[in-house]
This record gives sequence, C-alpha cells and structure tokens, in this order.
Amino acid sequence: MAQEPPLLSMSGIVKSFPGVRALDGVDLDVQAGEVHCLLGQNGAGKSTLIKVLAGAHQPDGGTIRWRGEPVALRSPIAAMRLGIATIYQELDLVEHLSVAENIHLGHEPTTAGFVVRRKTERTAASLLLDRLGHPEIRPASPVRELSAAQRQIVSMARALSHDVRLIVMDEPTAALDPDEVDNLFRIVAGLTAAGVAVVHISHRLEEIRRIGDRVTVLKDGRAVAGGLPARTTPTRDVVALMTGRDVEYAFPGRPEREPDAEPVLRVRGLARDGEFAPVDLDLRPGEIVGLAGLVGSGRSEILETIYGARRPTAGSVSVDGRTLRPGSVRSAVRAGLGLAPEERKAQALLMPESVTRNVSVSSLSRFSRAGWVDRRAERAAARAAVRELSLRPDDPDVPVRTLSGGNQQKTVLARWLLRGCRVLLLDEPTRGVDVGARAELYAVVRRLADEGLAVLLVSSEVPEVLGLADRVLVLREGRVVHTAPARELDEHRVLDLVMEGTPAT
Ligand SMILES: Nc1ncnc2c1ncn2[C@@H]1O[C@H](COP(=O)(O)OP(=O)(O)OP(=O)(O)O)[C@@H](O)[C@H]1O
Ligand SMILES: [Mg+2]
Repeated sequence: MAQEPPLLSMSGIVKSFPGVRALDGVDLDVQAGEVHCLLGQNGAGKSTLIKVLAGAHQPDGGTIRWRGEPVALRSPIAAMRLGIATIYQELDLVEHLSVAENIHLGHEPTTAGFVVRRKTERTAASLLLDRLGHPEIRPASPVRELSAAQRQIVSMARALSHDVRLIVMDEPTAALDPDEVDNLFRIVAGLTAAGVAVVHISHRLEEIRRIGDRVTVLKDGRAVAGGLPARTTPTRDVVALMTGRDVEYAFPGRPEREPDAEPVLRVRGLARDGEFAPVDLDLRPGEIVGLAGLVGSGRSEILETIYGARRPTAGSVSVDGRTLRPGSVRSAVRAGLGLAPEERKAQALLMPESVTRNVSVSSLSRFSRAGWVDRRAERAAARAAVRELSLRPDDPDVPVRTLSGGNQQKTVLARWLLRGCRVLLLDEPTRGVDVGARAELYAVVRRLADEGLAVLLVSSEVPEVLGLADRVLVLREGRVVHTAPARELDEHRVLDLVMEGTPAT
C-alpha cells in the first residue's frame, strides 16, 4: 500500500486535572477500516483520551492530525463534523427525550417545520434501529423506559446517524448479553468493511482477539505499547504491559468442605408476576451462590425482590428463621442483607461527595456514638477498604465524580464490604473493573465468605460465575432451569442452558 497518512494520529497528548496528570504524552495512530483496541487498568486514562478525541476535553498539549492535517477539536460538534462519533462509558442520553430525539440531538437544525421534522426524524430513527437489529425499540419511546442494552443501541444509532469515519466505543459490551455482543460485533464488521475505523475499549481480553486488529496499551497516562497485533500478542504480555507485573488468572480456591451450617437465607416460592417464576433458594454462611442467565432472565429482579426493593407477588424470604416483611428494604437491611446494585450511578453513588462519605454512607451507625459521627474511624475504615480494592487514586478525600468508571465501581463495592452484612447480594460486581483488580476483588469476596458471609452473585460473565461461585442456578426467562455445583458445569453447557438449547458459538 502507498504511504497514506493514518486516518487519525494523536501525538504527545497531555491532559491534567487538579492534582492528576491523566494523560502524560500519549500517542495513538488509527488506520481507516481497522478496529483499534485501547487497553489499560482502571484510571489509566482511556476515557480521558477518547474525550479529547471527541472534543469534550481540551488537551493541555500535543497534536492531533486527521488524515494528515493538524486539527483542533474545540467542541463535540467540531469532532462530529469531521466524522468522529463517540459512545461514552456513562451513556449520555437524555432520559426524558424520545429515542428519535436522542438520535438526532446535535444535528444541524433543518428548515422544515417542527411536525415535519419530527416525522422524518422518527422514520430515519426506525431505519437505523432496524439496521442495528433492534426494530422493537420504538422511536417515540422516552429513553428512560429502555434497558441498558437498548440504550447502548440508541447510542450506536446516534453515532451512525452522521456520516462517520471513526467510531469510538468506551466499554460498549459491559452491559450486553452474549448475543447482543455478537450483534454489535456484526455491526462493527460491516462498518470496518466499509472503511470506517473503530476505537474499542474493553476490559474483556477475549473480545480483543475476536474483533481487534491492533492494540494500544495505556498505563498511568502513557502509551506503553502502540499498535500491537491484536490476535497474536500473548495475553500474558498484554496484561504485564497493563499492570507492570504478572497477574495470576486463577480464581481463589474453594473451601475443602461444603459449609454445613444452617442456611442463613431461605427463599421459598418467591415470585413476581411477569418477571420470575417461584424460586427456592438456601444460602449458608460461607457459601457463594451464582445466578447465571441472560439480561432480562430475571436475575436482577430476584436479587432486588429478596432485598425488598420490589414487592413479591408470592413467596417469602427469611433470615435466620425470621421472615422478612415483604417489599421492605428496611426489614432486609436490619436482618443483615446488603445489595450492591447493577447500575452504580443511578442507584448508588453520591457523585459530588468524597470516597470516604460514599463508602461509609450505609454504615454510619457503626461510626456514630450518641449522635456524633466518629470521622477518624470512618476515614480509617474507608482507607482500608480503598487499599484492599486498590482504588486509584488511593486518596479517600477525592470526589467520586472525578474517579474513572472502574474506580467508581470499586467504591460501591467497598461500601458493602465495609458494612459487615451477613448476606451480600452482588449484581455484576466486576462490570468495568480491570483484569488486575478483578483478581483482587474475587479474593476479597472469597475471604469474606470464609469468614462466614453468604454471597449471592449475579454476573453476565459466565466464567466469573463458574470460577467464583460454589453452586450455580441457571435462569431462563424467569425460571430456574438447572442447579448444580459450579465445578460440574462449563461455559458451553451454561450458555446452552440459558439460550434454550441453541448451540453456543
Ligand atoms: N473530571 C475529572 N477531574 C479530576 N480527575 C479526573 C477527571 N476525569 C478523570 N480524572 C482522573 O484521570 C485519570 C484517568 O481517568 P480515566 O477515566 O481516563 O480512566 P480509564 O482508563 O477510562 O479507567 P476505567 O477503566 O476505570 O474506565 C484517573 O486518575 C481519574 O481519577
Ligand atoms: Mg473509562
């Protein structure tokens, strides 16, 4: 091929926030038609780099060339005009606007009248949604009524509503099912065949093998390797570049004997009409039980109903033989239940507050005596939890808003680990968490179980359920279709079960 300049060439990009140099001279070259993967630990600077590329952050230094010409991306509109579309990690859709309005947000206004424009927008939106394999998403629906996976698709439709040459996706697969991921990757293959470039960020290394062409690895705001071959570079090498050390992939060992204590949690015939059929479940101290199933199979709903956040239509939950008041979170929390929910931002975090406040918010009673909050004890406990999960930066006084996606996640988990509950319900605990920190998180959960905690785990990542849990319940469309010790299952078998016997690919 002739010496054509790369489609995009970023060099020496620097970006500082108060007290943090998020990017410390990063280089990134992207060719037309390639899938370029960005890898790095939580807080390495991936999202910051793509926000510079999207015109959402102005860099403090460095140059950006687009098809060989230096450009300044002064605003998201400027980036959009060049043909750069970004799908952010924290999806930036407007909740109260419709799907069609979100897709067309930021486009040049046309001269057509409002009614005509709305009609053409809706038609255009439904064409795009069809093309993305989701005709069931209605252009007129408000975005707040959509699931996480559907929102992802709307973001993608918005990206494709422009004349794009480069699509940047920041952890697009974190909230998707295996078949949703297949669908997304099919779309990506179609785009690259048409010469569109894709920058893909993910913590799942197997995805990089599947769709990546080249990989750039970031560490502490620098590119430690650029343009490595995505399919052939050994995982060991990639992980060593990311973390600066060799990481053991092994899951923590299971206890020698099965726990024989009386169950701490008993769920009997628990059901919610239209969501899940009656479930029976016993959880003993020291035991980790996993729920495997697709998004929409009722996994999260079961967790939330046990926790009292949803009212069951039938059945009961008891802790130590005492029946909890149905639909009462208070009653559940008093009995020692904790839930680390799936959608951190909406459900769990106080964004402007410090890590310390966020970590200790649900355990305040532990730190208060006669109405006084013992700030020293609160901070010490938060500091310990922050260290245990290697949160970065390791300063518990920074506002949570400024943390990277994966580190916000760890903040929520730290809160629950600190609370000292008896039964912990974990919904997608490692979503967005990097490979190094995952291993640490698994070890912490197993250690707490060894100390007597009972854990109910929901995860879309089958290997995680199989590796961490002792026993697994497989769900399909709101029904438990199989229960077995984790060591008797493998990934293919579980995928077969959740997908109704269709062969797993
Ligand atoms: N608005 C901000 N204010 C202050 N610091 C910030 C801000 N945004 C990011 N940072 C800091 O910049 C660094 C890089 O964050 P970034 O979000 O780019 O990481 P990341 O590689 O995307 O991580 P993750 O895998 O967790 O999403 C982190 O130390 C983060 O705390
Ligand atoms: Mg990020």
